[in-house]
Amino acid sequence: MKTLSLELGKTLPFLEANAIENLYPQAQAANEALEAGTCAGNDFLGWLHLPSSITEEHLNDILATAQVLRENCDTIVVAGIGGSYLGARAVIEALGNSFEWLANDGKNPVILFAGNNIGEDYLYELCEYLKGRRFGVINISKSGTTTETALAFRLLKKQCEEQRGLDVARKVIVAVTDAKKGAARVTADKEGYKSFIIPDNVGGRFSVLTPVGLLPIACAGFDIKAMIQGAVDMEKATNTDVPVANNLAATYAAARNALYAAGKKIEILANFQPKLHSMNEWWKQLYGESEGKNGKGIFPAAVDLTTDLHSMGQWIQDGERTIFETVISVENPRHTVLFPHDEENLDGLNFLEGRRVDEVNRMAELGTQLAHVDGGVPCMRIVLPELNEYYLGQLIYFFERGCGISGLVLGVNPFDQPGVEAYKKNMFALLGKPGYEADTEAIKARL
Ligand code: PA5
Repeated sequence: MKTLSLELGKTLPFLEANAIENLYPQAQAANEALEAGTCAGNDFLGWLHLPSSITEEHLNDILATAQVLRENCDTIVVAGIGGSYLGARAVIEALGNSFEWLANDGKNPVILFAGNNIGEDYLYELCEYLKGRRFGVINISKSGTTTETALAFRLLKKQCEEQRGLDVARKVIVAVTDAKKGAARVTADKEGYKSFIIPDNVGGRFSVLTPVGLLPIACAGFDIKAMIQGAVDMEKATNTDVPVANNLAATYAAARNALYAAGKKIEILANFQPKLHSMNEWWKQLYGESEGKNGKGIFPAAVDLTTDLHSMGQWIQDGERTIFETVISVENPRHTVLFPHDEENLDGLNFLEGRRVDEVNRMAELGTQLAHVDGGVPCMRIVLPELNEYYLGQLIYFFERGCGISGLVLGVNPFDQPGVEAYKKNMFALLGKPGYEADTEAIKARL
């Protein structure tokens, strides 16, 4: 089995001798606490053995539902926010054609995302785009009560029913939600939608390998069984019986905690493939929501390179030295583009004639890392042999397990998110939601 690899060499000049190895016992203890279920947040460990416990029957149910949607829809809107959409979007964009939106050949439905913002123009433009289209909706919300998602779903449900008729709408609207509670469950049961359950013990940001991620990914035409196989193999490779030095997730957790202790408070995830932009977004949520608490936590930032070398590059090279960089590097692109000859050579690029674009990209990556190290930025590198379902499954599980271990080493509960409630309370108070009368009065006095 080929696995991802993790290179730490370019972090070492910035750390005291053995700083990473010194954290191995803590990383091992954290990994064992996850395994034994004795850690903080142990009621949310359902993700830990999710890959190896998914049944063939469950995967086939997801695939059969995806097939119904694919046969009946040219467009599928995935309504969800945070952990309820970022993973699906990350995988679909990483595997899809960058120009799917413009160049869709009808073989696969166009997948759109909604319910992740409250932009009125966004929703207006989406509803306009959907007019006349054979669209379906996957409504994803664990709580079933998230405002952004519920608001979008109300609009989409109405339009789908009006446009496609009640019977078809009931076939092409699917819910992924709690088994019993929440408005999404009540609506699904009342309307008779096909529905999938998000297990109680799997938090939103760890849910990509449940139907939350798998159903939209299957609808987009990608191989979810290969993705699960990648995750299963990474689950084995990061288990407690694998010594920390050989355990990618535990090593990553130890390295980032060593860097944090050395004053590197910001981790910048950098890719050199624009297809990984949303993977950055998924990773930011996973680590930000898991670790940023009790006045602690590495701030997860992300850049797309070389694009952002022309914007954030200056800051990374030369700004405050509180950052470290983690590069996701893809060894083999799927396609080959060679530089053509140009008789006039006005751009001076004939020296690249016959060479691959990827060679330039790889040299840009290497040159950037060396420059950043020279500028005082520790760099580590995660290498994926290629962008396919199998390696993305590995990557997802690697980051999840690394996050659990890292948060525990940091000394926080990686599986709760008390901080995300504050804005909701204020928003409901400002909107005058029934039940928030006292908060409304209090907040109005502050304005
Ligand atoms: O990771 C989390 O728990 C959150 O980001 C949630 O996924 C997000 O808030 C959406 O919640 P829900 O699925 O309940 O609509």
